[in-house]
Amino acid sequence: MTVTVPPRSFLNDGEHYDACHASRHDDLLFWIKMASEARRVLELACGTGRIAIPLAVKGSQVTGLDDSDSMIAQAQRNARGAGVDIEWVKADMRSFDLGRDDFDLVVLAFNSVNLLLTLDDALTCLRCARRHLAPNGRLVIDTFLPSPERLLAEDLEIAYVLPDDAKITIRARRSYDPAAQIRSLDLTVASSDGSPPGTDRQDVHVYYPSELSLLVQQADFDVVAMYGGYDQRRLDALSRRCIFVCSPLA
Ligand SMILES: C[S@@+](CC[C@H](N)C(=O)[O-])C[C@H]1O[C@@H](n2cnc3c(N)ncnc32)[C@H](O)[C@@H]1O
Repeated sequence: MTVTVPPRSFLNDGEHYDACHASRHDDLLFWIKMASEARRVLELACGTGRIAIPLAVKGSQVTGLDDSDSMIAQAQRNARGAGVDIEWVKADMRSFDLGRDDFDLVVLAFNSVNLLLTLDDALTCLRCARRHLAPNGRLVIDTFLPSPERLLAEDLEIAYVLPDDAKITIRARRSYDPAAQIRSLDLTVASSDGSPPGTDRQDVHVYYPSELSLLVQQADFDVVAMYGGYDQRRLDALSRRCIFVCSPLA
């Protein structure tokens, strides 16, 4: 049997992730505000530390958890560059035990909740988050609001340049299966370094606000605020984001 290794891309490689998301800062002020009174912060699916590092720079003690060696290695390099000390943990956000229950804030940012492909996965992740929170702590989840337009099939071209100057060009097709509530991204990745193009696929679960609300309640949280954007506007029909602020039930 031949096993095809997916090409390196922003989906699986820390250097690619940073090159692809270098200009994504629109959520940072929101997270800094959410963490302003949080001494201890845990970010689940932290990637390369795009959010964890600025929170540490602002003075929180941050733990970043991710299941990818490559993302964590890049996060460690980025934290060294920023001069901050962060605890990086390689673990699966669906089942982790850090042996503590004193986090003031657990962050699930930038559609990472959508990587939980089943309701069981979502519940186990939320219950783990609940166990790690201090009694007055908060869990904040940021996902996209799945408006009908947002779920239409589309073709995308994504391009970015790596630090060694290799240009990565990705042609991608987004599709949606409404029965499974799964949105898929099929990628063909090409590099200017001459390596042969390769393909990869990412599936995400689309979470609707009422579904997310039920899930967090089942995991013993109260929803204390819902926002439709990083400026904390009301969640409504025109919102692009769906942000839940949850507090653990006593
Ligand atoms: C969209 S990136 C978000 C990174 C970061 N939170 C940010 O906002 O830039 C999603 C991250 O989730 C990680 N991931 C995917 N499934 C995971 C799992 N089951 N447990 C932990 N991390 C996971 C990936 O390795 C990737 O780094």
